[in-house]
Amino acid sequence: MHTILLTGGAGFIGSHLTRLFVTKYPEYKIVNLDKLTYAGNLENLKDIEDKPNYHFVKGDITDLALVRQLFKEHQFTAVLHCAAESHVDRSITDPLAFINTNVVGTASLLQAAKEFWGTDFSNKIFYHISTDEVYGSLGETGFFTEQTAYDPRSPYSASKAASDHIVRAFYHTYHFPVKISNCSNNYGPYHFPEKLIPLCIHNIINNKPLPIYGKGENVRDWLFVEDHARAIDVIFHKGRIGETYNIGGHNEWTNIALVKELCKQMDEKLRREKGTSEKLITYVKDRAGHDLRYAIDATKLKNELGWLPSLQFEEGISKTIDWYLNNKEWLDEVTSGNYQKYYAKQYDGV
Ligand code: NAD
Ligand code: DAU
Repeated sequence: MHTILLTGGAGFIGSHLTRLFVTKYPEYKIVNLDKLTYAGNLENLKDIEDKPNYHFVKGDITDLALVRQLFKEHQFTAVLHCAAESHVDRSITDPLAFINTNVVGTASLLQAAKEFWGTDFSNKIFYHISTDEVYGSLGETGFFTEQTAYDPRSPYSASKAASDHIVRAFYHTYHFPVKISNCSNNYGPYHFPEKLIPLCIHNIINNKPLPIYGKGENVRDWLFVEDHARAIDVIFHKGRIGETYNIGGHNEWTNIALVKELCKQMDEKLRREKGTSEKLITYVKDRAGHDLRYAIDATKLKNELGWLPSLQFEEGISKTIDWYLNNKEWLDEVTSGNYQKYYAKQYDGV
């Protein structure tokens, strides 16, 4: 039995995680604390919002008084910490927002949990969801393991690395019951269209340019978001306290090859002439400090807990495109208003 404080549940990964826990564990109570930034959207949870074991609170994880009060009110036995500022490009233009939410916010959750749990950690879990970007950038070979030294290179990854360090410090100092996972790039439904895959899907639908940073040779390791949620479920229930688990897809793509695959699949699905969408590819100024390559070695998770990705990429990306084509209202809504202003600024009119 758990009563879980799940943070950031209205975001991309958080909404899949919330859906998985609320439906798979009806005996658990899940309280979703989300500030509803531009990236948080309650539409992502429409299908489960009326479930009796689900409760939403709009609020900020940096608000220690609020988090303390929520612990008192709901008597949490676990925290699934997913809330974050998550977009690298935004961290380059506004680093303090990332330090605030990702570093101060994580520390405030740890502090409130520590005050409420005291020294009785039986059946308690503080699960911190993190990223492979903390390990820095790989050359053309090699993989990130749990032993790879931290070398974050963007304000986003530095803020996530700092939060990982604070979580680990609570384990070493107070024997706090922490678990951490560091995952590679996710894709799937409800992905906000500022990130590469949903941005390109949106732009292909609307015949807009597909902005590729630099030469498009940077490599990412893509994992279907529901597989990430399944991995978190396994680690939450069976992973060892104080341990870190890498999660990845063993699925590396250069950005340009990935975008060409999207173009190919979307031409077929939209019944456009072969090669139509590729003409939208536009090379733009590179991201500052752009990490070359990420690739995860998830052997520990496989050997210890038996987790493997369930979907092949071609199938996952086809499912994802279908979801966006069938949910144009969601896409139109999140791409209106403020997002348009952000887009104009980020891409300078391209
Ligand atoms: P997202 O940007 O889609 O969602 C973040 C959510 O957090 C939103 O609902 C937002 O409203 C909420 N939030 C932001 N600041 C908050 C605050 N101060 N208080 C309360 N809520 C706040 O992010 P995502 O892509 O779903 O990522 C979720 C987590 O997974 C992050 O910790 C991220 O670092 C990590 N992660 C993401 C990926 C990926 O590919 N997207 C990969 C590995 C790890
Ligand atoms: O590796 C995990 C990380 O993956 C997560 O921690 C982050 O929260 C998540 O945003 C993601 O970071 P990336 O920077 O890798 O994802 P993004 O979709 O922004 O970019 C993927 C690649 O595509 C990257 O090499 C930059 C490039 N890109 C991105 C955008 C938005 C482009 O070429 N053009 C674009 O317009």
